[in-house]
Amino acid sequence: MAENKKNITNHSCDVLIIGGGSAGLRAAIEAHDAGAHVLIISKSRRGDPHTVLARGGINAALGTMDPDDNWVIHAADTLREGEFLADYERVEVLCKNAPDAVNELINWGARFHREKDGRLTQRFFGAHTYRRTVFYEDWTGNEIIRVLMDQVDQRKIEIMENVYVTKLLESVHVNGRGPVSEEVEWKWDRIKGALGINIENKEILIFECKSLILASGGCTRVYSVSSSRIFENYGEGVALAYEAGADLVDMEMVQFHPTGMVWPEKSLGTLATEAIRGEGGILLNSKGERFMKNYYSERMELGPRDVVARANYNEIINGRGTEHSGVWLDITHLPKEEILNRLPTIYEQFKKINGIDISKEKMEVGPTAHYSMGGIVVDIKCKTRIRGLFAVGEVISQIHGANRLGGNSLLDTLVFGKIAGGEAARLAMEVQEKWKTREPLSLRLTFNDRKEFEDGIYTVKEPVKFRNEIQELMNQNAGIIREETKLKNSLKRILKLKKEFYSKHNILKEFKIDDDDAENRIVSTWQVKSSLVVCEAIIRSALMRQESRGAHYRSDFPKIDKEKWNVNIYCRNGGREMVLFKRNIKEIEGPLVDLLKSHNKPEHHREFE
Ligand code: FUM
Repeated sequence: MAENKKNITNHSCDVLIIGGGSAGLRAAIEAHDAGAHVLIISKSRRGDPHTVLARGGINAALGTMDPDDNWVIHAADTLREGEFLADYERVEVLCKNAPDAVNELINWGARFHREKDGRLTQRFFGAHTYRRTVFYEDWTGNEIIRVLMDQVDQRKIEIMENVYVTKLLESVHVNGRGPVSEEVEWKWDRIKGALGINIENKEILIFECKSLILASGGCTRVYSVSSSRIFENYGEGVALAYEAGADLVDMEMVQFHPTGMVWPEKSLGTLATEAIRGEGGILLNSKGERFMKNYYSERMELGPRDVVARANYNEIINGRGTEHSGVWLDITHLPKEEILNRLPTIYEQFKKINGIDISKEKMEVGPTAHYSMGGIVVDIKCKTRIRGLFAVGEVISQIHGANRLGGNSLLDTLVFGKIAGGEAARLAMEVQEKWKTREPLSLRLTFNDRKEFEDGIYTVKEPVKFRNEIQELMNQNAGIIREETKLKNSLKRILKLKKEFYSKHNILKEFKIDDDDAENRIVSTWQVKSSLVVCEAIIRSALMRQESRGAHYRSDFPKIDKEKWNVNIYCRNGGREMVLFKRNIKEIEGPLVDLLKSHNKPEHHREFE
């Protein structure tokens, strides 16, 4: 148990936002503008969240390059790419609101690329019918963060950096009727705040709030090869919500980006943006063959992301890979000025890390874990089943289905960030009104609340050893190609690791927060704790889904099975065990129906050598 009683500080606000990326910042702006007192807490430094790694661009059917584009076609592309596992109503909200989201950024000063005549440039990304991706060089996420940070600063919204949240605080079984959601089953508990630690000065922090928005990112660092940095995306937010009683869904759907760097070792997985292929880059195997013609001849390198990623993998494991177990990505046919104009950071990245000039030499690339389509269950207003708890961004689910369309993630953070911020502020105001006539809930915690601290902040022996084993296990057994025996074995191992992790001899009761190494040990303990929840959910769901759909490929069930598996798989915290259940996908209605009938996606190569 944490024993350093000196350094506890309490903070209170109306809306607490966990996460300083684009979802969190956009939510904060909206909640502030709706009149709420907002506090953003973030484990990364101000202005350096995972969003800054988002490269290629953001989608909106603006029709600046291809005037026939519109939101319905964008929505159809999104649903088709997700193999119809996404909730079509959320996809409609996403695509209808995309032009406004991009125009808002422009009004706030975003410097998106323009044609000579002033039109916004839109580039191709994989599986889009039209050129639809708006961009700033090849560093779009960074530009969006710059603009949003500027808006946050203008509003003087407070951001506390270096804060690692370890527990959500709830009051149990609140009486009376709340704003019951039509889509999520209600749980009669209410969020009251969060417990965390400042990982720099080791202060224990208690946050009190009326509503809380989780905007804490995805889970793809549970894989050893990932496009996330080593300190981010262990599914901490997903695990916090699950432990508090929120449901998870579609956890088996993990997107592998086709082109991550493969050498040197320290840069393994780092993204080589899809924009390279959008600008004309081609993929070649070690024999110099443009192999995508064998997998998806209709769109070649701009086929669906899952198809291109598996094609790369297949070439590599069948002996047609490069020296460092990759394939070639070649853009040397483009003029150097064009490369420098459209892909300047990628040019620099390869020059600095690999020492190669991509205008003259080919890049070596391979699949990398990139995005979690699954996550926390929320309704269309971003509410979870816990009153006062909202979630947004990569931490949630059902917007991208089985496979996310490139360029839709930045968009989703803005569209749903705005919704989440507005709703959280509205709820906070309602609570405020109620508390005028009633004694407020007691939100203050002290060290006498032993339970909150005993399971709220601790460390274990050698957390990094656990972390490394889990990442390797996930890569080997629950990665881009899956099958029953490997999944079953890895589930067994995860459950064993879980037992070891929580065993009495492993938890360091004598741990002191002012230890020199406390920062590293707390963070890596919590990375493992979260990974154990997330990996169990991924593996159990992957075992249950006996078909191949989108990013989930089962070599023992290589075909899509719409008869049996047009369902979403849910995971619920059943106390001692994780409980899985299925629900049918909602039938699509409205303007999308006819369009989807008339445009069938070409069948692609599903079975491998
Ligand atoms: O390759 C990329 O730039 C990634 C974009 C995305 O995942 O949306």
